[in-house]
Amino acid sequence: MNPETIPPFQSSLKMPAQFKTGSVEHVAIIMDGNGRWANQQGLPRVAGHQAGEYALMDTIAGAIEAGVKVLSVYAFSTENWRRSPSEVRFLMGYSRNVLRARRDQLDEWNVRVRWSGRKPRLWKSVLKELMAAEEQTKDNTGLTLVMNLNYGGRAELADATRLIAERVARGELKPEGITEDTLARSLYLPDLPDVDLLVRTSGEQRLSNYLLWQCAYAEMMFVPEAWPDFGRQSLWRVLDEFTHRERRFGGAVDRVEENQ
Ligand code: IPE
Ligand code: IPE
Ligand code: MG
Repeated sequence: MNPETIPPFQSSLKMPAQFKTGSVEHVAIIMDGNGRWANQQGLPRVAGHQAGEYALMDTIAGAIEAGVKVLSVYAFSTENWRRSPSEVRFLMGYSRNVLRARRDQLDEWNVRVRWSGRKPRLWKSVLKELMAAEEQTKDNTGLTLVMNLNYGGRAELADATRLIAERVARGELKPEGITEDTLARSLYLPDLPDVDLLVRTSGEQRLSNYLLWQCAYAEMMFVPEAWPDFGRQSLWRVLDEFTHRERRFGGAVDRVEENQ
């Protein structure tokens, strides 16, 4: 599909009838499988990243239609610097271009764009586009789209720990006063809710250092399709499955009578 073709709203595609709009607050997606998708078609890996742009826009449109409040997407990890210099260069340049090209569209969709990640190493031009998208969309009240770019869960926890240590060193906080809440409030985007549903495409079943703190009680879904084949319908399918999961958060219900 032509990545320039922007998916329309109110398309003929229908959400599962029983799905209750707005029933999932925070969805996080590990957009994986671009390289394999491209190679399987005899194309270079970067062609998969390009195809992933359409999947992202379609998924965002689907998340809006489904009433999701926060959609976090893993675009570049702190470990992705290990890739070949040419792929890293492509990913940085492409992220910058997509942010610039899609900013107005996201703004029209009432999406608020936010960045979560580490500054060091991130290309200045990418950071500039992230800041521009954040600024342009800061008053939007619809979906919050979190771009995890140069993000790592361990890096985030190490950075949060440093902030807390600095407060202790300044005498603002006592070590015995440190709680889970102190840590949660020291994360990159402390106002965001925990992740309800974590989705990873391409069949891999691991976290790859994504949102370690925020996923403590996330439901996880690993879907076989590669990221370029994902889209709003795949999102609605996983959202629908999510609503059938029983989340216990450590609690328990005695159901002996129901089972007799
Ligand atoms: C995900 O696809 C995109 C990024 C990590 C930036 P991959 O590039 O990891 O594709 P595979 O997993 O090698 O197929
Ligand atoms: C995770 O995918 C990072 C992103 C999707 C941005 P990777 O493809 O980098 O993860 P591993 O290396 O397979 O664990
Ligand atoms: Mg991968």
